Amino acid sequence: MKISADDTAVAPHEIGEADLHAPTLYGSGDPHPIWTAMRRHSPVHRQELPDGRSFWSVTRYHDVNDVLRDHTRFTSNRGTLLSILGGRDPAGGKMMAASDPPVHTSMRRPMMDMLSARALRPMVPKVRRVVNRMIAPLAAGSWNLARAAADFPMAFTGTLMGLPEADWPRLTRLTTMAVAPDDPEFRQGKGGGTLASAHHELFSYFSGEVRRRAGEPGDDLVGSLMRMQVGGRAFRHDEIVYNCYSLLLGANVTTPHAVAGTVLALIDHPEEYRRVAADPDLVTGAVEEGLRWSSPANHFMRYVVQPTEIRGVELRRGDAVVAWLGSANRDEEVFADPFRFDVTRSPNRHVAFGFGPHYCIGAPLARIALRLLFEEIVGKVAEFRLDTPVEHLTSNFVAGIKDMRVSARLRQGAAEELEEAISADGPVPVTR
Ligand code: HEM
Repeated sequence: MKISADDTAVAPHEIGEADLHAPTLYGSGDPHPIWTAMRRHSPVHRQELPDGRSFWSVTRYHDVNDVLRDHTRFTSNRGTLLSILGGRDPAGGKMMAASDPPVHTSMRRPMMDMLSARALRPMVPKVRRVVNRMIAPLAAGSWNLARAAADFPMAFTGTLMGLPEADWPRLTRLTTMAVAPDDPEFRQGKGGGTLASAHHELFSYFSGEVRRRAGEPGDDLVGSLMRMQVGGRAFRHDEIVYNCYSLLLGANVTTPHAVAGTVLALIDHPEEYRRVAADPDLVTGAVEEGLRWSSPANHFMRYVVQPTEIRGVELRRGDAVVAWLGSANRDEEVFADPFRFDVTRSPNRHVAFGFGPHYCIGAPLARIALRLLFEEIVGKVAEFRLDTPVEHLTSNFVAGIKDMRVSARLRQGAAEELEEAISADGPVPVTR
């Protein structure tokens, strides 16, 4: 996501021409001037697409929170992403992310136990090893950090879900296709075909995985879903498959961009990097500010349950409302000097993980992984350099970075530590 602090770049009369649906706005453009103008002049904004479908956009922090929080007015049951605007999500009521309470709550409770910080504690040493293997190529020169970050989540979700390591690269590619079907690198034929084919392959994959385990589910996350009781009955096959898909997608398409987006912010603000490097206690704050700054999930969508209004604007039953998280995280009424990257920002109540009943269930896992990664980075890297211009993902859902080549000046002794990390654990499997 390119970052612009210029809040006068879009005049009020130009807001009507803005196309927040266009994936190119996020791939080669910058949504921040438009979001900033909308927050100021049109905080509840309607856009109609050439095919007649339409949606409302809310861009202010408190409106975003209200829409995400209040399932009695705004349902998740019909789907939560712009990519399926106007359709009916077949996973509605079956997949946690596309359900409302009480069905949602009955699925979420047992899954939360599996993904709590406490349950994940035993994974910490493994994630630290993964992190060191991942950053090891820094010792050898210029390195495509964004490509390596793309592989990062599979190393923990793949392990947690008990998925064979040989399948990880394919799953990473399929999840990116599902959120960036218009990106030239991931598109297969026409955009619609890419999304359908990614969904088909991912659902078949998990369906096969669940069948293969029949009678012997295993004690990993997939096994736990297979044993799960919801409302006094066993979880059905399609419900298990949809939730496996959602967990994998949730982790794979967001975490890499929080990594790349935070490193990029630290390169653009070297004084902030020096502060964290001098005081590793600031890593937690740097990770939170990196999440606010990068906001890897641009939006989530809801549908209006019954006629309602936001800021005096009337919304009809069935209208789609898109909550723009990336905009809420720059709301000047909530964040002081929101276009300043500040690793000591406090308070920092960002909504990168959403708000309300659907608040990201993977947040404890993402936070553990990001903190470990940045702890290792600041302990080893004295200074980063950007080697080539950054390339963004063409997607209206994910604020993504797909190419970002960096080099580092390492701290004394770090090169040896990174070499040890490789030789202790075999070759580094990531792309250079
Ligand atoms: C930096 C990393 C991440 C970001 C920025 C992020 C962002 C989000 C956001 C904004 C939501 C709210 C969706 C809504 O309101 O409809 C959400 C929900 C969700 N996330 Fe994440 N996520 C991240 C990591 C993860 C990880 C690691 C996992 C898997 C373990 C995951 C799985 C999910 C699932 C399953 C939901 C649906 C929760 C529910 O409906 O109750 N996410 N995430």
